[in-house]
Amino acid sequence: MFFAVTDQAFVTLATDDVYCQGALVLGQSLRNHRTSRKLTVLITPEVSSGIRSVLSSVFDEVIEVDVLDSADSVHLALMQRPELGVTFTKLRCWTLTHYSKCVFMDADTLVLCNVDELFDWEEFSAAPDSGWPDCFNSGVFVFRPSLDTYNLLLQFAAEHGSFDGGDQGLLNSFFSNWARADIGKHLPFLYNLSSSSLYTYVPAFNHFGRDAKVVHFLGATKPWNYKYNLQTKRVMQDDTASGSFHQLPFLGLWWNIYSASILPLLEKLQKMEDSDEVACSVSELSIQSKPAKPIPEDERRKWEEGRMDYMGKDAFEHIKKKLDAFLH
Ligand code: UDP
Ligand code: GLC
Ligand code: MN
Repeated sequence: MFFAVTDQAFVTLATDDVYCQGALVLGQSLRNHRTSRKLTVLITPEVSSGIRSVLSSVFDEVIEVDVLDSADSVHLALMQRPELGVTFTKLRCWTLTHYSKCVFMDADTLVLCNVDELFDWEEFSAAPDSGWPDCFNSGVFVFRPSLDTYNLLLQFAAEHGSFDGGDQGLLNSFFSNWARADIGKHLPFLYNLSSSSLYTYVPAFNHFGRDAKVVHFLGATKPWNYKYNLQTKRVMQDDTASGSFHQLPFLGLWWNIYSASILPLLEKLQKMEDSDEVACSVSELSIQSKPAKPIPEDERRKWEEGRMDYMGKDAFEHIKKKLDAFLH
């Protein structure tokens, strides 16, 4: 017997058509594993109307929100991910007050089995970050939508900013007692298995990896950036991706879902729009992310050398002003 739970949802975010490809595969993987919860995707005005219509065939709700950008190039440079300022838009998920409880999942995650039991956890539950285990990774978390919490988060962002320039730094400072207060709010790592490999990772992966429930392709290279051969159904790995050998089965799974379930939807759209944007007839496919906004060369060098202009343009006052402008 299948009971739909209508006041709880899985939520993801995609601010452009490329991240939407990830959101589509995530949504489809949740459907394949017969989730009983609603599926919601938050998008921003940049997402094209064609992709919106494809999203609405996988998700129950496609909700447009405005971008929230930390505009904090200073801290983002520490992660070498200048594009992640827009992850502040994730905070908008607390406005989904027509749900009593939600699970947020990054658009670069993929579920490997039914994970509806995640709704048994309470706000704020998340799994440890593999880079800094006293922090949680904000790619998968359980939360309760609330305008009060949302406003407190915005206020906190305006007052304190984020130590990584993205949502993860902010959320870790906001829910700062996560590490110690209640072990019941630590999701098992199997619900957010990061595909990054540290030297301690491979043996643990070999031992526990087969029980993974959600894989998170975190890092600058996403599954959609790999080349996939539609005939051989194989992901083509170049030498630069060496060291991520154990990722291959997961990448293959991502591309299987993409080619079996998402490409046909895009092909239908292509026929309707008569555009040739998605070249489905080719045998090899890969989706390139938008090039990151270039950082002017001498600015980048100054950052890399740790020479920030704290008294001038990089002063906290300026960063705060920018944040205030975005957040109000
Ligand atoms: N995201 C987005 N547009 C962007 C960057 C990020 O929509 O330009 C969303 C998307 O849901 C993505 C999440 O924010 O999965 C976090 O970014 P990402 O997964 O790239 O960060 P990582 O997990 O690699 O640190
Ligand atoms: C992290 C998380 C991601 C988050 C980003 C920015 O590595 O995986 O979900 O959006 O950092 O804070
Ligand atoms: Mn991610």
